[in-house]
Amino acid sequence: MNILGIETSCDETSVAIVQNGRHVLVNNTISQIELHKEFGGIKPSVAKFAHEEVIDSLIDKTINESKINIKSIDSIAVTIGPGLVIALLVGFKKAKELAKLWNKKLIGVNHLYGHICSNYLESDLEPPFVCLLASGGHTQIIDVKSFTDYEIMGSTLDDACGEAFDKVGRLLGLPYPGGPHLEQLAKNGNPNVYKLPEGKVGDYDFSFSGLKTAVLYLIRKLPEDFNKADLAASFQECATNTLVKKIIKAAKDKNLNKIVMAGGVSANQTLRKKLKTQSSKLKASLYMPNLKYCTDNAAMIASAGYFMKDVESAIDKLDVFAKDPLSRRSYVRSS
Ligand code: KG4
Ligand code: ZN
Repeated sequence: MNILGIETSCDETSVAIVQNGRHVLVNNTISQIELHKEFGGIKPSVAKFAHEEVIDSLIDKTINESKINIKSIDSIAVTIGPGLVIALLVGFKKAKELAKLWNKKLIGVNHLYGHICSNYLESDLEPPFVCLLASGGHTQIIDVKSFTDYEIMGSTLDDACGEAFDKVGRLLGLPYPGGPHLEQLAKNGNPNVYKLPEGKVGDYDFSFSGLKTAVLYLIRKLPEDFNKADLAASFQECATNTLVKKIIKAAKDKNLNKIVMAGGVSANQTLRKKLKTQSSKLKASLYMPNLKYCTDNAAMIASAGYFMKDVESAIDKLDVFAKDPLSRRSYVRSS
């Protein structure tokens, strides 16, 4: 079964064709990062226009490169939330139009479920497992019971982990998005120079705003020429320690020997290394998405569409915030 996936929830326009939820025929992504850099965060109106500008040509290109014809596409899967509503609507309207034109089934996909499914791409992973989902809008621990059934064990109570990386990146004078730039800077730093506070919340919940504020106050006290790499490394150390501790506890408590990571922050090498060490101590297998599928992409959406194809689609009750099963908070990224 071939599924065409479309993703426009934030600042990446992406179109993919995936076979049987696992095998990626083509995945094309156009990032808008350069357009948003000058705002230090995502500007929704800019995102909407940028998606509109490229979506048609990206769909044509993807179908051409897949070397399959439209008749061989079984369904169209599209992200319906959470995300920036005006950006989401670009993809949704296009998917609806094509589904009607080509007479295909339309499957509405939860973006966060899509991130989990990035781990099914080119892999043999099967539930049950616990998943650490850390992106720019969300940070959650999810008990994935089957391909269609999952339960949130905990979430961030304030900032998402990626959001904290972005905000601290900005405090350190780094371009948007802070995450990858901060990781780069931290490579030359000592993670033990500054002792920063981990959020003190429930077992599987997260809090990153105290950590971000601690960095802000520290910078105010430090001399102007402080070593930014040391502070970046210390922040990264603290944030990744929290993530690792909580997912390992979740795996132990649920007695599950499969640990899965997802979302943009899962591209972070320090996090990947720490999780490798801790999961092997637990004799658990660790699954991490290929780096190209950590951040937003349509291949994961097409995969999610495949696994969710027989579940009642949320498409008829398109309420991307309130009805979202994985999201406790709205998706607003402050700039
Ligand atoms: O999953 P994603 O592409 O978009 C959302 O659904 O939010 O995640 C983007 C987030 C951004 O906050 C970005 O800074 C962060 O993931 N990120 C990273 C790294 N690469 C991306 N954070 C830490 N280290 C990285 N290497
Ligand atoms: Zn995402």
